[in-house]
Parts: sequence; C-alpha cells; structure tokens
Amino acid sequence: MVKILAAPPAQSQLRPIPGRPGLPGIGHVLEYIRDPLAMMRRQWDSYGEISWFSVAGRRWVAVLGPDACQEVLQNKDRVFVNSDGWSALIGPFFHGGLMLLDSDEHLRHRRIMQQAFTRSRLEKTVDALNPAIGHALDAWEPTDDFLAYTALKTLTLDLATEIFMGGAEESTDREIEAVKKAFVDCVQAATSMVRYPLPGTRWKRGLDGRRVLEKFFRQYLPARRSRETDDLFSVLCHIESEAGQRFSDDEVIDHMIFLLMAAHDTSTITISTMMQYLGQHPQWQDRCRAESLALGTTTPSYADLDQLGSLDLVMKECLRLVSPVPVMARRAVRDTEIRGHFVPAGTYAAVAPHFTHHMSEYWPEPQRFDPERFAEHRREDKVHRYAWEPFGGGVHKCLGMHFAGLEIKAIVHHLLLRFDWHVDPGYVAPLDFTSLPFPSDGQPVDLRQRSADSARQAV
Ligand code: HEM
Repeated sequence: MVKILAAPPAQSQLRPIPGRPGLPGIGHVLEYIRDPLAMMRRQWDSYGEISWFSVAGRRWVAVLGPDACQEVLQNKDRVFVNSDGWSALIGPFFHGGLMLLDSDEHLRHRRIMQQAFTRSRLEKTVDALNPAIGHALDAWEPTDDFLAYTALKTLTLDLATEIFMGGAEESTDREIEAVKKAFVDCVQAATSMVRYPLPGTRWKRGLDGRRVLEKFFRQYLPARRSRETDDLFSVLCHIESEAGQRFSDDEVIDHMIFLLMAAHDTSTITISTMMQYLGQHPQWQDRCRAESLALGTTTPSYADLDQLGSLDLVMKECLRLVSPVPVMARRAVRDTEIRGHFVPAGTYAAVAPHFTHHMSEYWPEPQRFDPERFAEHRREDKVHRYAWEPFGGGVHKCLGMHFAGLEIKAIVHHLLLRFDWHVDPGYVAPLDFTSLPFPSDGQPVDLRQRSADSARQAV
C-alpha cells in the first residue's frame, strides 16, 4: 500500500514522497541486506528517484539516480547534515570522525586533515607500504580455494597498524592484538540490531572496544606529539591548516579511530573484488601483470603506481560493480526539497551511489565487467558528473581517495608479481550488506605461486 511521507505545505508546488512501510517492526531491513540493488530497483520502478522506506521503525528517503544524489551531496543550502544521519547507522563508535562533523566545524577539521594527504606525504606512505606488504604476503600459502577476502582483511588490518600507527613500536604484540579486536568490535557493533549495551551483545562489545581504542591512543599520544614520524598518528599530532590551526589530543584520538574504519573495509572489499574479476578474466590479469612486470620493481613509488593504467581501469570498474559505501546517510535539519519533493525537517536520507552504478540508463550492460568503459576513448563515467561516485561528492567527498588508490594498487601489484589465480567464471560473490559489503564465503580463489624465474623478471 502506497503512503506519503508527509503532506507538502498548502500552496506549495512540491510533491509528496511516496513509499511503503515494509514488514512490521523491521521494515525493509532484510530486503536491503539480501539484495540492496533489487530493493532499490523496486523503489525506483514503483516511485522514481525519491521515495521512502523504513528501517527498524525509522523512515528513510531513498535518493536514487545521479541527479538526486548530486542535489543532496552538493547540499547547497546546508540543509542536510552528516552527524545525525551517519550516527543513526554507525552509532556512537565513530563520533568526532571527519565524516560525522558538519558546517564550520567540519571545514576547520578538513582543512587541517588535508595536510595529512598531500602528495609528498603520500609518497612516503607508498615507500612504507611496500616492505609491509611484502612481509605480510610472505605468510600467504597458495592453495585451491584460498580464502582471499579473509586473508586480505588480515593484511589490510596489519598494514593499518603499521602505516597508521607506525607499528606503535613501544607497544606489545598483545596490546596490538587487543587494539585490532577492539576495532573489529566497534565496526561490528555499528550495524547491530540490538542497540542497547546488554551484556554479551555486539553493542556492548563495541562500546568496550571504543574505550580500549581511546585508552590506547591516549597512552601513546605524548610520544607522537614529542617527535614527528611518518605514521598517520604522528602526522595528525603535528599538522596544521594554512591558518595555523591544529588538532587537540581528543580530536586526534577521534580521527584516528574513524580513519581506521574509513580506510579498512573499503579498501579490503575493493581488492577482493579486483581479485575476483581478475581471476575470472585471465586476459585482464595478464594485461595488468605485464604492466607490473614492465615497471621492473617490487618497491614501486607513487609515480610508478601512476603508470599502471590497466590496473587503474580495473580498480575503477570494481568500485562501480561493488561500491564499498553503497549508501551515504544524511538528515534534513529544516523543511526542504529534493528534486521537487517535499522533505520535512528530521527526515533521514539514504544517498545511493551503488544503485547509480548499476543503472542501465547510464551504464551499458551494467552487470558486465568491462574496465575499458573507463578508457579515454569511451569514458562512460563522463555521461553524468555523478554517474561514478564511489567516493561520494560535495564537501564530504572522500579525503583518503588517493591514499586508497595507492594502497590498493600497491597491494595488487605485489599480488600480480607473486601469484596468479583463477576464479570460476560462473562464480557470483555472496555479498553480505549488513554493513559495508563483503563476500560471506571469504571469497575462494585458486591461488598459485608464480615461479621464481617469473618473479625475478620484476627486479
Ligand atoms: C576504496 C576505498 C574507499 C572508498 C570507496 C571510500 C568512500 C568514501 C565515501 C563515499 C565517503 C563520503 C561519505 C559521505 O559523504 O557521507 C568517504 C569519506 C571519507 N573517507 Fe573514504 N573511502 C575509501 C578509503 C578511504 C581511506 C583509505 C581513507 C583514509 C586513509 C578515507 C578517509 C575518508 C575520510 C576522512 C572521509 C570523510 C571526509 C569528510 O567528511 O570530509 N577513505 N569515503
């Protein structure tokens, strides 16, 4: 049964937002988790680009298609806020993170944090990544049905400890393991259905995890303040905006906890999607490997990674096929409109790049893996400014997108030199969308070590 979200004010030309409540109590939660594309397609087919649906008793407006996404993300009247929107989804575990700040406070923090992602800092990051990746991959034991996603998740978490915290060299292995566990507990709690700290619940473990992380960062902060090193933790302690503003201790801690989350699952799912499609399309794997071999190095620099053109196409296509952040959350703080529809104050909005990326209106054969669509002679992404938006848009556009691209390419470059792998062409990843997407089977691939001779070609 179609219902409207709210009646537009009298005399208004605005249209009401149509929608449906879904199942009693849970609304559309299961429908979304099972297959968000199918769920959004139903909304689109029934109501068009703006409609409402419900999630556990709360109404959300689905913002579908590039025009509607652009309008909300550009947020010209500053009517949509991130803080209330995102905290409804990821709870109290990542408060103070840049993505959860708004208006002038957000701008002040973003101007400082930008200094952590300059070209010269990223060049140093790449130099630090290479040995860390090499070391982590030494532990991989190639076999049939190697669980690529599971292994990548460990790899990227190890890298985060190394690159973000500088290995926290003064801390013990036990402490580092406790930090990793606390971080995973926070991420898992964020999407818990039970959102109350009852003993034994994910929510309670998440709150405890947040405390462990805060204590850890606070303990090591004075050492980072006293001496600048290249790890992100230290960098956040020292950077300042052009106006000379710096982060306080509490701000550094909040940003570190958020950045771990922002960087981790997003990069992991992207690499795992790339491994899947490269395993299913050997001609692309060969093509990317040929470029990696041509670089002739196992320690590529920033500039080297920039030359991996085919890998760049594959990465972009994988970000389209499986968008690591399928929806972005916003909340209207005043009565407003989206694409001529009346949006009352307090409305939650789910901006959905994942849906745009699969619209046949913009992408020919959207389900097909076709990296060439991003090549200069085609540039299908140019059809609309918001046709390809895996990193979002507007003032909250991902600040780590270059960092992410470098980390992803560096890891896949190392993988191509060391291994080759195969995935059944008929394999469809059973993606779980409870939080950010991940393959629930750990993504099995048949992984083989490349011969020492072929690996030597690289050096
Ligand atoms: C493939 C990997 C990644 C994807 C797809 C991705 C995607 C996104 C998206 C869609 C947003 C915007 C959220 C919104 O508007 O509500 C965002 C924000 C952000 N991301 Fe990423 N991200 C990735 C990796 C990273 C990495 C590696 C870092 C840091 C090292 C990072 C740091 C951030 C930060 C700080 C923000 C908040 C920006 C702001 O609010 O001003 N991300 N990311």
